[in-house]
Formats: sequence, structure tokens, C-alpha cells
Amino acid sequence: MKYHSEIVKRRSFAIISHPDAGKTTLTEKLLLFGGAIQTAGAVKSNKIKKHATSDFMEIERQRGISVATSVMTFEYQGILINLLDTPGHKDFAEDTYRTLTAVDSVILVIDSVNGVEEQTRRLMEVCRMRDTPVIVFVNKMDRDGKNRFDLIEEIEKELSIQLHPLTWPINSGKDFKGVYDLHNKNLRLFTAHTKAEDGVLQLEDLTDPVLDDKLGARDAAVLREDVELVDGVHGELNVEDYLAGKVAPVFFGSAVNNFGVKEMLDTFIRIAPIPRSRETTKRKVDVEEDRFSGFIFKIHANLDPKHRDRIAFLRVCSGRFERNKYFHHVRLDKDVRFSNPYSFLARSKDVIEEAYPGDVVGLFDTGNFKIGDTLTEGEEFYFTGIPSFSPEIFKEVLNKDPMKTKQLEKGLLQLTDEGVAQLFTQFGGNKKIIGCVGELQFEVIQYRLLQEYGASVEFRAQPYYKACWITSDDPKKLQDFIRFKSSNIAEDKDGHLVYLAQSEWFLNTERTNNPDIEFHFTSEIHKEMI
Ligand code: G4P
Repeated sequence: MKYHSEIVKRRSFAIISHPDAGKTTLTEKLLLFGGAIQTAGAVKSNKIKKHATSDFMEIERQRGISVATSVMTFEYQGILINLLDTPGHKDFAEDTYRTLTAVDSVILVIDSVNGVEEQTRRLMEVCRMRDTPVIVFVNKMDRDGKNRFDLIEEIEKELSIQLHPLTWPINSGKDFKGVYDLHNKNLRLFTAHTKAEDGVLQLEDLTDPVLDDKLGARDAAVLREDVELVDGVHGELNVEDYLAGKVAPVFFGSAVNNFGVKEMLDTFIRIAPIPRSRETTKRKVDVEEDRFSGFIFKIHANLDPKHRDRIAFLRVCSGRFERNKYFHHVRLDKDVRFSNPYSFLARSKDVIEEAYPGDVVGLFDTGNFKIGDTLTEGEEFYFTGIPSFSPEIFKEVLNKDPMKTKQLEKGLLQLTDEGVAQLFTQFGGNKKIIGCVGELQFEVIQYRLLQEYGASVEFRAQPYYKACWITSDDPKKLQDFIRFKSSNIAEDKDGHLVYLAQSEWFLNTERTNNPDIEFHFTSEIHKEMI
């Protein structure tokens, strides 16, 4: 309980959305509230514009931005908020999934015009896997969006989560008049570019005639009806249900107009979870434990190819992280210390002396870390829930310059340590296969191998659709399966066996024909076995 007072003042979260829904704009408004930035426009969007697929300077520029905005720490009403950035482009979705393992809750931004879009669906699946508490911000209410009830229904259905509106909109588009705060029972009238000091209208109850004055009789009547309906269905928010990831509070607003943002932020600091206890391969680590533990969830290469060092992002899970203190690197079984760990307070990289659960620390790394690595004060365990998912596109790496084979191998290992892609080596052969979730990653890999390692490669498409990690309690059955299916078997970077399936049909057939073999869609299983 030594660090209790530090733990309870921390909130670590990420904003997730489909590109263009308003994540960057909302981030900026939150930072303005927190005083971390002074002017609008200070936060650069980290999205890679559509035309950038062949524009590598753009990708490099984005890499620069994404280092700077990886973690944004600010203080609001005495609460220390760590906002972890997630990439906007769908081809970097795996990066986002991993960042979600390091946060305690998320804010999901939905565009009121477009409703639920593809990327939102996938990100929410990851949140649901982990029962991450979610707050929904329905953005762009100043535009003619979908009907508010239809939108709620769509989000609930598409994302399989129960919603609980905490504010309620009065119209949308050019008729948007504001939001009614269902919890505090007040009305905030819409003005473009709302300032913090713009007041709210406190109402006795909804029969208050001031409502008719401000909204007009027709809109006031609609609001009364809506609120009766919404209250009737939802009642008061049960915070426990939110914390269990079962119910998501919803706010309506317009990020670009700074409207509805403060209501959400005030609720966020009231209900969002403090850093929580976490499961490991051995036991649950209580966040209040005195002994330090943490894990690496992201690795970022140095932008300068002359300097091979990288930044490993450590999420502190228990105890106190200290500068220059030796900690145990579980995978390498050695003790390591850090002389220049840094924090991201106010977006400047400051060397820190200590950090507490919920914090993210940037560690200079010369190749000692991989995603999922755990640091402790001596105990042997790994934090679970940081899986590699099966990639969706597979390509063989063709070395165009045999003189650079060594550099290529080194580059491939380092890039895959960073989690840019997964690397598989065909069983009994030398064929190297890279698996990614998006085409753009192959271009990034090709470009970076050349720029940073001098290795020139081409890719040859492979006809696989999924990689499944395979295990069995019966070693003989596993050996037989490997022998019969050798052309579809590969090893991942850690030497774990993987079955590369050509199609769903093949995968299902093999599963039916081989009941003693287990097929896993994430690499997590191997951590549970140590
Ligand atoms: P993203 O990070 O989720 O990809 O979205 P971002 O914040 O960059 O917002 C995407 C576009 O939507 C931006 O316009 C932004 O100004 C606009 N936007 C954000 N919030 C609102 C809102 O509440 N109402 C309306 N009407 N628009 C909103 P853009 O034209 O792409 O860029 P910009 O030139 O305005 O920066």
C-alpha cells in the first residue's frame, strides 16, 4: 500500500476511432483543458493520408510525429492523465491493439454522420476481449447526422455493448441547439468554439419553462419526450457495470467546437478506472504491491539510421520504477538498469527519477527488448494479454543482394522485434515469410531495410490466409502432423510452431482431422506454458 496515493491519482487511457471521426481534434481539446498545450493546432494528426502509400517521406514524417505523441501526459483537477496515442491507419492496427494492452480504459469517438465504421468494430473487439471500460463520444453533432435513437441502436448492435447516454442532444446539423446533461440535469446551449467559462443552465426539472424560452416550444417538447424515454430505459448509470466493460456511457458533442468535451472529461476523471491489478503467467499482480513490475508494449526505432537505439515503452504495473536501479529482465534472465528513462509530461522528454503504476516510461534500448518483455524485481513471470494476432497477408522475402544477407537478417529481426510485422521461417527450409495486417507495412519494411540496413528485398505473395500456433499434449501426434503438413509448417521468431492455412476450409478440415492438435489464433498460449 506504499504507493496508494500515487496510484489513485492516475488514469491511463487511449482514444480510438475510425480515421476522420475526430480523434486528433478531441485529443487536442483534452490537452488544452489539461494545460499541456496552449494553442489549437498544436497536435499533429498522425494519420497517413490515403495518397501516402507510395510517399515514404510522409511515412517517415508520421513516424516522427508518432514518437512525439506516443504518450501525452497532463494534469486535470489533480488527476494525472496518461493519454496513449494510437495510429490512425488501419494497416497499423496491430500497433493499436498492443497499445490497448497498456491502458486501463478507452474513449471511443464515433462520427455521428457515418456511425460505426469498420475499424471501430475491430478495435472494440479487442476492448471486449479484455473487458476494457469504454466511454463513447458521438462527434460532429454540428453536422446533419443520423437520428440519435437510430445511432444508439446501431452502436449497441454493431459493437455488442450496452450504451448509457449521459448527455442527450437537441437536434443536429444547423439546428443543433446543445445537449441536456442527464446526470446533472442541466442544459448546455451550443455555441461554436465553446469556452470553459461558458456556463450551463441549471434546471429544476424538465418542466422548467426556461426550456421553452431557450429551445422553442417544439424542441423543448421533443427533449422532454426523449429524456422520459431515455431515463425510463436507462435510469442512473451503474459505475460497476461500466468498469466491468458491460455498459458504455455516451456523450454527444462537437470536438472541433469544443462542445460537450468538458462534460465528458469531468465524468471521465470521476468514473474512469485507476490502474488495475493484472494477470501474469504465475499469479495476479496486485497494483498496490510494493515490488516493481511492468511490461514492454511498444518499441519505436530511432529515426536516425546512424543510431540504432530504439525506444521501448514500458507500462508500470506495480511498485515503483526507479532510475539506475537494477530490474530483472525475465526473458533474458539478466538484471538491467536505465540511466536515462524518460516521461512524456507536457510532451517534452524529461528524464525521470521514478514512475508509478499507470505510467509509461520511455527506455533507450539497444536491442534488448521485444514486445511483451517483462521487468520485475526478481520474480519470474510474464504479463498475459499481450498476444500477437495472426497476420492476414503473407509474403516471402527475396534477398536481392546476397552480399547483404547478414544485414538483411539483422534488419528483419529488429523490425519484427518492434512489432512492425511477424516473421516465420518455413520448417526444414530457409524460406522467410513475413506476415502483416496491411499492405502498407510491406512497403515500410522494404523502405526501412534499405535505408537503415542497406538490404534490398522484394516480396513474393504467399497463398496463406492465417497463421495458427499449434500445440498438442501428444508429442507423437504433433510430430506426425508436422511431417505430413511440412510445407505448411513454419516457426515463428521464438521457435514456436505455426500452421499456415491456405483458406478457412483447409483450416477447418485440419482441425476436424486432427482433434489432438490445438490451433491457436494468438501466440499467447506460449507464455502460459513457461
Ligand atoms: P482523426 O484524428 O480521427 O482522423 O480525425 P481529425 O481529428 O483529424 O478530424 C477529421 C476531420 O473532421 C477534420 O477536418 C476535423 O476538423 C473535422 N472535425 C473534427 N471534429 C469535428 C466536429 O465536431 N464537427 C465537424 N463538422 N468537423 C469536425 P479536416 O477537414 O479533415 O481537417 P482540418 O483541415 O479541419 O484540420
